[in-house]
Parts: sequence; structure tokens; C-alpha cells
Amino acid sequence: MKIDKKIESEILHVAMVMDGNGRWANERALARLKGHAKGADRVRHIVRASLDMRVTHLTLFAFSTENWKRSESEVLGLMSLFKKFMKSEAKKLLINGVKVRFIGDRSKLDDPIIKLMNDLELMTVENDNLHLSIALNYGGRDEIVRATKKIAEKVKLGQINTDDISAELFSNNLDTFDLPDPDLVIRTSGEMRTSNFLPWQCAYSEYVFEQSNWPDFNKDIYQKILNDFKNRERRFGAVLK
Ligand code: FPP
Repeated sequence: MKIDKKIESEILHVAMVMDGNGRWANERALARLKGHAKGADRVRHIVRASLDMRVTHLTLFAFSTENWKRSESEVLGLMSLFKKFMKSEAKKLLINGVKVRFIGDRSKLDDPIIKLMNDLELMTVENDNLHLSIALNYGGRDEIVRATKKIAEKVKLGQINTDDISAELFSNNLDTFDLPDPDLVIRTSGEMRTSNFLPWQCAYSEYVFEQSNWPDFNKDIYQKILNDFKNRERRFGAVLK
């Protein structure tokens, strides 16, 4: 796996499942989209906090391959929120050294959103303060199937042999090919599920299930979780010394 510039010990990759926007809105008798709008505001706050706390990689689950099952108005509302976010935040992200990239199957998204995604990736490609990955139309199983097809195609073309297939080669064919595996996954709203988010990459990640809904998640809670994480002993399958 390619880990650019930074040495491994400096890397801190936090992945987040931003859950609970709908419940936050329901509790306030607001439309679900108001919860998502507040959620977008939290994304800005958490990106800033990640920069401040020297998190090097932040991966956010914005829209899953299963989220298309939601009502048409919610899906359209979310897509327009993503576009608005990319337009309004692009300059700030660039100035703050945030490198943005998207993971997931973008072929099913509409052309204007794909253009904004490509432009934002290109514009911030040289940045290195924080690697922000946004999972949009992302599903772990879908990603694994797409990677498998890529590898099968290479075998078919005679570019590799089946014996060349290893965990490393597999990782290199995932959307996250150039990212380190997440150290920590935080899911808000108290739900204790992983929901098809980075299943391959999170084999040895630590998990925190936080009670607050995403719109209430903030830097203080994030800081406490990071402090606690730093005291955890990670074994990666080995025994205690
Ligand atoms: C899950 O809450 C949240 C989503 C499916 C959408 C996440 C989107 C945002 C936080 C908005 C902005 C994001 C970016 C990257 C600008 P839910 O709707 O499932 O909540 P519920 O379980 O309470 O109904």
C-alpha cells in the first residue's frame, strides 16, 4: 500500500458513519432534510477539528449504495446538499491544505455532481494536511465486487497470474488503494452496526459507537474519543507482550 510522504507513525486515519440526521430532525419536528443540512454544517466543523487535532486522514460515509432506497425527495435533497457543499467549501478546503477524494461507484451519479467531484479532487490534489475521503454511492461489498472484476480482467488479459493475487494486490484494486487502513471508526447515533462501510479496510480498526446524533457531534466529543483511542492497546491479532 502506498503511504505518501508522511511516515507511518504520524498517520491517524479516522473513519466516520454520520448517522442520526433523520432522528435529530424528527425530535425537533423538522423535515429530514433539515437534519441533513445541519449534518453538512457538522462536516465543516469536524474537518476543521480534524485539522486542529492532527488527524491525517478522515473518511466520511455520505451516501451508501443502499441509500437510493430512500424517498426520491430525500435522495434529490442529499445530492443537492453535496453539490452545494462542494461549491461553497472548495476554496476553504484548498487553502487549508485538505486533499479531497471520493470513494464509491461514481458511474451512477449524475454528470454535474461527477464534474464537481472531479474538479475538487483535481484542485486539491497537491494538498497534504488532511486527506479527506468522502464515500458517495459507496458500499463495501460493491467495492469488493468491483475490485474482483478488475483483478479477473487482469488475469484474463495475462497481465497477472492467479498466484499473484494476495491481500496486498487486492487492497491495491480497491477505491482506497492509496489510503492507509482506518485506525478508528466512529459511528454516531448509538447504532451498533458497521453497515457495509469499509469492511475490508477495517479488519483491525477500533470502533466507537457514540450516542449523539451526527448533527450534535462536536469537537469536544471527538477529542475525548481520540484521547481514549490513544490509550487502547492494538494487537493486530498478536498476543500481549
Ligand atoms: C445518516 O443519517 C446520514 C446520511 C445518509 C447522509 C449523510 C449526509 C450528511 C451528513 C450531509 C452532508 C454530507 C456532506 C459530505 C456534505 P440518517 O438519515 O440515516 O438518520 P436516521 O437514522 O436518524 O434516520
